Amino acid sequence: MGSGIAELALASGHPVVLCDCRDTALGSARRAVFHGLTHRDGRNPVSDGGAGAAIRRLTPTVRLGDLAVCDLVVEAVVEDIGTKMQVLRDLERHCHAGTVLATNTSSLPVGRLSECLEYPGRFAGLHFFNPVSTMKLVEVVRAPATREATVQALYERVLGWGKRPVHVADSPGFIVNRVARPFYCEPQRLLDEGVADIRQIDAIFRHCGGFRMGPFELMDLIGNEVNLAVTRSLYEAFGKAPKFRPGALQASMVEAGNLGRKSGKGWYEYADGRKGVPAGCRSGYRPDHIEVPDDMDMARELAALARDAGIRVVRVPEGGAIRMDGFALALTDGRSARCRSIDSGEKFVLFDMAVDYTGGSHVAIAVDPSTDESLLCQAAGFFNALGKTVIAIGDTPGMCLMATVCMMVNEAADCIEQGVTNQDCVDLAMRLGANHPLGPMAWAERVGVDSIRTVLSNMQREGDPDRYRCSTLIEAWADCSGGDFPRLA
Ligand SMILES: NC(=O)c1ccc[n+]([C@@H]2O[C@H](COP(=O)([O-])OP(=O)(O)OC[C@H]3O[C@@H](n4cnc5c(N)ncnc54)[C@H](O)[C@@H]3O)[C@@H](O)[C@H]2O)c1
Repeated sequence: MGSGIAELALASGHPVVLCDCRDTALGSARRAVFHGLTHRDGRNPVSDGGAGAAIRRLTPTVRLGDLAVCDLVVEAVVEDIGTKMQVLRDLERHCHAGTVLATNTSSLPVGRLSECLEYPGRFAGLHFFNPVSTMKLVEVVRAPATREATVQALYERVLGWGKRPVHVADSPGFIVNRVARPFYCEPQRLLDEGVADIRQIDAIFRHCGGFRMGPFELMDLIGNEVNLAVTRSLYEAFGKAPKFRPGALQASMVEAGNLGRKSGKGWYEYADGRKGVPAGCRSGYRPDHIEVPDDMDMARELAALARDAGIRVVRVPEGGAIRMDGFALALTDGRSARCRSIDSGEKFVLFDMAVDYTGGSHVAIAVDPSTDESLLCQAAGFFNALGKTVIAIGDTPGMCLMATVCMMVNEAADCIEQGVTNQDCVDLAMRLGANHPLGPMAWAERVGVDSIRTVLSNMQREGDPDRYRCSTLIEAWADCSGGDFPRLA
């Protein structure tokens, strides 16, 4: 991370002193910086004389005292509180009074680190994302003692480097690592419970959710040990909150050295470089006609597809589900298909949320397990007739994408309510810091804040009441907005 940040500052025309206690690390950092400077994309060219001039502005050193000339020092040593405090204490001793000190920590409390300093007002968190050269976001973390001028100076500096800074109050995981946790924790729970396998889950996120990568692919790319460490630190910081409970399977994989891509094996095996795709569920069934209610949000999209497929569509004023040949087909509302069948006395098949039912290639479905196989074939056949690949997963409250998205929105709402961030910053942070297709507030707008509350409360009833507790802010939004998502000015 240190070499990435150095490259960024060099490319913007600054002289940089790069300090590491290991000579060998400095050598490889210098090579990495030069490689980065000579391979920048056209949108971020090196200013002031190109890569050659930039690398001449770099001063590698093993002596911390050589940083005394700097106006800004970004600490990016190992994630160990003792080491960081020692380095920060030494830095304060060497640097001049006007130097701004920052830490790139991902998981340590910035306020706790500042306790080792005599002048904590000039210290803040500056959380870059990996790889620094391509990730746009930087979280500017204000600790309780950080002065406004320090925050402003860091914000301006990051903007000047062509990055997008967001303000964050010092709290565990800041924005991105915290709000992204359900993206890893919910899929691992589904895997543990045997609801779906990793290929199915990754395919649902990619093809139904519009994510660039599924959670298991991404954990393998990040490194499972890194991902697990972040989850563990949030789990501890939030008093062992069930929503952040680390997955047992991931822990045992890490213990066995199966870290992901870098070790050749993680959730996937990378020997042949291919991860495979899940087998879609196929059936030749095709209903003659379907009943589509006007009170179902995505009914128009599915009705249009059915009509295009030559299926007769009968509009009915209400009913909350599409009906055909003796069963009901509905978007998950947080209840399992089994629960919904019992509640209504009808046979239910559920489908998961998708960003685009019209253009999307995949649909995930779940069937009440007490019904016979033919129901699954019928539901799969219907979606096949609409041109969709069908992923059949086990019957579970909230299904896969809906459960995960609602939990991310819930976490974002908690962050906002606790003053960690605001609506705009949380969306920006999740898009730029985690590459999500939509930020949590945009998801909330799409799903509807009322529906999110319903999904969470149904999941709470059928699942873990603690894990799926609805944020009081979502409750308030749902109560006050008549179902619309309230955008703050
Ligand atoms: N790797 C990531 O994806 C990532 C992302 C965001 C933030 N971070 C944070 O950035 C920091 C660094 O992470 P990294 O992945 O680059 O770690 P790293 O282990 O690759 O690099 C840390 C460097 O610090 C040096 N170092 C250790 N003790 C030192 C000391 N006393 N004085 C000088 N140098 C010392 C080490 O020699 C090493 O080269 C951590 O706080 C981490 O949480 C990492």
